[in-house]
This record gives sequence, structure tokens and C-alpha cells, in this order.
Amino acid sequence: MINSAGFTKPVAANDLEGLTDELFDDVVQTMTGNTNGLSAYSTKPAGFAGEAMRKLFASAQPDAVMHLAAESHVDRSIDGPGEFIATNVNGTFQLLQAALGHWRSLAGPAKDAFRFLHVSTDEVFGSLGPTDPAFHEATAYDPHSPYSASKAASDHLVRAWHDTYGLPVIVTNCSNNYGPYQFPEKLIPVVILKCLRREAIPVYGQGENIRDWLYVDDHARALLAAVTKGVPGRTYCIGGDNERRNLDLVKALCALLDEFRPRADGQPHASAITFVADRPGHDLRYAIDARRARAELGWAPQEDFQSGFRKTVRWYLDNPAWIQGILDGSYRLERQGKL
Ligand SMILES: NC(=O)c1ccc[n+]([C@@H]2O[C@H](COP(=O)([O-])OP(=O)(O)OC[C@H]3O[C@@H](n4cnc5c(N)ncnc54)[C@H](O)[C@@H]3O)[C@@H](O)[C@H]2O)c1
Repeated sequence: MINSAGFTKPVAANDLEGLTDELFDDVVQTMTGNTNGLSAYSTKPAGFAGEAMRKLFASAQPDAVMHLAAESHVDRSIDGPGEFIATNVNGTFQLLQAALGHWRSLAGPAKDAFRFLHVSTDEVFGSLGPTDPAFHEATAYDPHSPYSASKAASDHLVRAWHDTYGLPVIVTNCSNNYGPYQFPEKLIPVVILKCLRREAIPVYGQGENIRDWLYVDDHARALLAAVTKGVPGRTYCIGGDNERRNLDLVKALCALLDEFRPRADGQPHASAITFVADRPGHDLRYAIDARRARAELGWAPQEDFQSGFRKTVRWYLDNPAWIQGILDGSYRLERQGKL
């Protein structure tokens, strides 16, 4: 059972397709959201309501739960933190309760094998200085945005359900993802779309913030490895060893667009870069030490930045209908989270 229909989810589901006989009898995708090409799967929107969720567990009888559903955009969390508490904190609580009830109803090998994978973020660890060592599984939590605070709270709940009730949980904390199907409010799709529309490319502050970028398929593969090989009660940090300053990332994107879709006026796309007011509480740097995941889960990223980045830009250029479908809704590339 997979609990999301967002950006990270389709890849996990596609990988699961080839593995269903081996690992799961069926993939039941719960929750609402953009289905992102997931029609092949059994989709049962259940929201987080306790009773609906309990019924879904009873009918699906899942071997494992991968909990990805969340409100996930920092800027949106600044404008409307209530949704983030409701979904990320209370929603996770509801799901834990339903999973606990289900797990307690199991016996023998089915009970031993059940896993609850909670998918979280490196943002719970706060902000690093330029030369600080990377985040690792024992780094103290220090979240700064409503989003990261809500994810931190959900991580604590998940661990408490392990320590108190024995629920076999696994937590992953991953760095920034990029790839196809990412909602156009995140940095990489924003830059691509602004280039295509010949609009100013907004860079927060001076573009000095550093993120560790991981191709979304590599995140999905890490989640599969964690749910099948992870030790209950343990956390795994997942990252790409791929730190980039935002400004360098934006310039690299612009260079790729110069190659794939040059401007008619001959100007480089980077000439449209514009520095705008910084995000309030903007963490300076995230970096992940993924040695535990590599050693214990046998996981390693398969894409490097060049290959993943090229694929991503190509995908956005080749899928204007998907982009238009999103932009026809309530979101129109406007700036969020300014206060
Ligand atoms: N994208 C990243 O860079 C990244 C990095 C690390 C961790 N994560 C985590 O991975 C998970 C997936 O992230 P994503 O980038 O795919 O996000 P996303 O926003 O694309 O997808 C989240 C999904 O959750 C669903 N959802 C939100 N609120 C809901 C509610 N109340 N009821 C039902 N469904 C609801 C949304 O509809 C959406 O389908 C999140 O938990 C996020 O914190 C993401």
C-alpha cells in the first residue's frame, strides 16, 4: 500500500510493478492528488480520515505501507501552515493508528514481515554552515520552517509508535529530489518554465543556498530498498553527494536550455536571472551522509547530476500538456511564502 500520488510516488510504483509477485500481492495506492500516470494501479482515495483508513487496511491487508503523502512545499507552508499540521502531523497520526490496528491483527510470519516506511526529508535537521559535516542519522533535529517542523513532528510520532507499541517502522530522510512530474512550484521546474515563457527567472537572495540533489528514481529505489531490507526502528539518510549552490544550479539549467531550446534573440537564458527577496528563514545548506543506506541497504544512486539533469529538462520540454494541465488549475507560477 502506497500512501501518495505525488512526485516521488509514480517511480516507486513503476518499480513495484515488476516486483509485485516477489514482494507484494498487489499495490493499492491510497490518497488523493494528481495521479501522474498511475491509472494502472488500484487507487482508493481515502484521505486521512481514521474510519476510511481503517476500512482500507481491512480490505487491502497490506504487507507494507509506504507513507509519502504530505504537504511538501516550504513556501506554501509559510503562507498556510495549518494544512501542513493537519496533513503531516495529524494525518501521520491517523495512519499510524490504522497501521497499528492492522499489524496487531496479524500473526506469525505476516506480522514479523510487516513494515511501515515513513518518508521524510533532510530539512528536519535544520541548516548547515559552509564547512559543517553532512547530516547523518544521529544529527539532532532543528527544523526552521512550518514544513520541516511538521515533518519533524511526524518523524517523532513514527518513532514513538515503534518504541511504545512495537510497530515495525523505518524512517528515511532524503535530500532534495528532482526529475519528471515535479509540481511546477519547485525550483527546477520554475526555472525551466520561466525560460520557456521568456519571463524573469527568480533566484531567492543571492542564490547562495546549497542543496544536495538526488534524481527522483534514485530516491524511489532507496525507498524500496528501505522497506524490504531496512531494520525496524532504524533511520536511513538518503542523498546524492551532489551539492550545488542554487545560482550554479540555475545557470546549469539555463545552459541546457540554451542547448535544447535556444532563445530566438540569441541571448543566453541566464540573462533573465533576477535576484528576488529571500525566503524567510531560508536554510543555508543541506548535505547528506548516506553511508548507512549504501552499506546496509545496498543502495547507490544510478544517475549522476549530468544524466539526471538532462533527462529532467528533456521531460519538461516533451510534456507541455502535463504542465499546462497543472497551470490551468489554481497555481500560476506566482511567488509564494514572502510574508
Ligand atoms: N520532493 C523532495 O525533494 C522530497 C525530498 C525528501 C522527502 N520528500 C518527502 O517525500 C514525500 C513525497 O514528496 P513529493 O515531492 O512527492 O510531494 P508531492 O507534494 O508531489 O506529493 C505529495 C502527495 O501527498 C498528497 N497529499 C497531501 N495532502 C494530503 C491529504 N490531506 N490527503 C491525502 N493526500 C494528500 C498530495 O495530493 C500529493 O499527491 C513527502 O512526504 C515529502 O516530505 C520529498
